[in-house]
Amino acid sequence: MLLLAVLACLFAISLAAPAPIPARPSYRRAESLATTTVPDTTIEGDFVRPALFSRIAYCSSQAVTSWQCGEQCAAVGPNVKILQAGGDDGLIPMYFIASDPDTESVVVAHQGTNSKSILSIANDVQIALVDLNTTLFPQAGKDVQVHDGFQKTFERTADGVLSGVRDALNSTGAKKVLVTGHSLGAAVASMDAVMLKMNLDPSISLTTTIFGLPRVGNQEWADLVDSNLGTSFTHITNQNDPVPTVPPQLLGYVQPQGEVHIVSANATGAIQTVACPGTENDNCSDGNSLLDASVANHRGPYFQNISMSGSACPF
Ligand SMILES: *[C@@H]1O[C@H](CO)[C@@H](O)[C@H](O)[C@H]1NC(C)=O
Ligand SMILES: *[C@@H]1O[C@H](CO)[C@@H](O)[C@H](O)[C@H]1NC(C)=O
Ligand SMILES: *[C@@H]1O[C@H](CO)[C@@H](O)[C@H](O)[C@H]1NC(C)=O
Ligand SMILES: *[C@@H]1O[C@H](CO)[C@@H](O)[C@H](O)[C@H]1NC(C)=O
Ligand SMILES: *[C@@H]1O[C@H](CO)[C@@H](O)[C@H](O)[C@H]1NC(C)=O
Repeated sequence: MLLLAVLACLFAISLAAPAPIPARPSYRRAESLATTTVPDTTIEGDFVRPALFSRIAYCSSQAVTSWQCGEQCAAVGPNVKILQAGGDDGLIPMYFIASDPDTESVVVAHQGTNSKSILSIANDVQIALVDLNTTLFPQAGKDVQVHDGFQKTFERTADGVLSGVRDALNSTGAKKVLVTGHSLGAAVASMDAVMLKMNLDPSISLTTTIFGLPRVGNQEWADLVDSNLGTSFTHITNQNDPVPTVPPQLLGYVQPQGEVHIVSANATGAIQTVACPGTENDNCSDGNSLLDASVANHRGPYFQNISMSGSACPF
C-alpha cells in the first residue's frame, strides 16, 4: 500500500510542470556507518519518560488538562502538572506544556496521528518544500526549506508554544526543557525545538527526544537541526516503520542526525536498540526495504511496551 502511495506520488510529480533544478543537489547518498548498542541505562534514563509523555499527548485535551488520562498519566507519576494545553484535536493537533518536578523540567509534548494519516500527509498533502518561516526562525539561512504541510501545522501552535514555555520557565524556575512527540507530533516537535533554541535564553538546557519522525526538510534544514541541537536531539525509529523514510530523498528531503534505531522488539518492549551515527545511516531505518514496511511498527512498542495510541485513555 505504501509502495502504491509512493508510486502514485512520483507519478503525480512527473505529470506536474517541470520542477526548477535546485541550485545544488540536495540528495545525499546513504552512509553505512557502524552502529553501537544503546545500554539499558540510557534507555531507562533518557528515552522512556519522553515516550510516556508522547503517549499522553494521544489522549483528548480534556483528559490531559484535567489529568484524568488513567494509566497513561499514572505512568509518569503523581507530580506532573499541566500548565497549558492548546489545539483542537483536529486541524490543530493538541499539545501540552507541563511541569515535571521529578526531572526539574518543563515538558512540551505534541499529539501525533496514526500511521495511515501520517503517510498520507507526508506523501500526498503539501509535499512541496517551502521556505522556512523567518519570523519564527530569525537566524536561519535563506536556503532552508521544509515540508509545506508540516510547517503549516507547526505554525498553528508555534506562538502558543513559545509564550507558554517562557511562562512555564518563569513560573516554575526550571532551567530545562524537554520537547517530545510522535509521528506528525515529532515533525512539529523538531520545528519547535529549533525555534525554542533560537528564541530562549541560551542558559536553558533543551533536550529533544522524538519518535517516528518523518523527513521534515531539505539538507539545509537537517544541517540547521544538527548545528542548533547537536547531541541533545534524538529521533527514535522502530524496526520497519516506513514513516522515517518519507517523503523520499529523491524529492530533496533529508533526516537530521541523532537517530536511535530499535532493531528488534517483542510485546514486552525493545530487545536491541542501536545508535546510528551520521544521517540516513543505511544500517538503520534508511536501510529498510519498502517491501518489508510495517505500519504497525510506527505505533511501537518503543521500549517497555509503550505504544503510541490513545487506546488506553479513558476518554
Ligand atoms: C553497518 O555498515 C557497515 C558497512 O556496510 C558494516 O561494516 C557494518 O557491519 C554494518 N552493521 C552494523 C550493525 O554496524
Ligand atoms: C510565520 O508564522 C507566523 C505564526 O507565528 C504567521 O503569523 C506568519 O504568517 C508566518 N509567515 C509566513 C510568511 O507564512
Ligand atoms: C517572571 O516574570 C516576572 C514578570 O515579567 C518577572 O518579574 C520575574 O522576575 C520572572 N521570574 C523568573 C523566575 O524569571
Ligand atoms: C521478549 O524478549 C525478552 C528478551 O529477549 C524476553 O525476556 C521476554 O520473555 C520476551 N517476551 C515475550 C512476550 O516474548
Ligand atoms: C503491552 O501493552 C498492550 C497494550 O498497550 C497490552 O495489551 C499487552 O498485554 C502488553 N504486553 C505486555 C507483555 O506487557
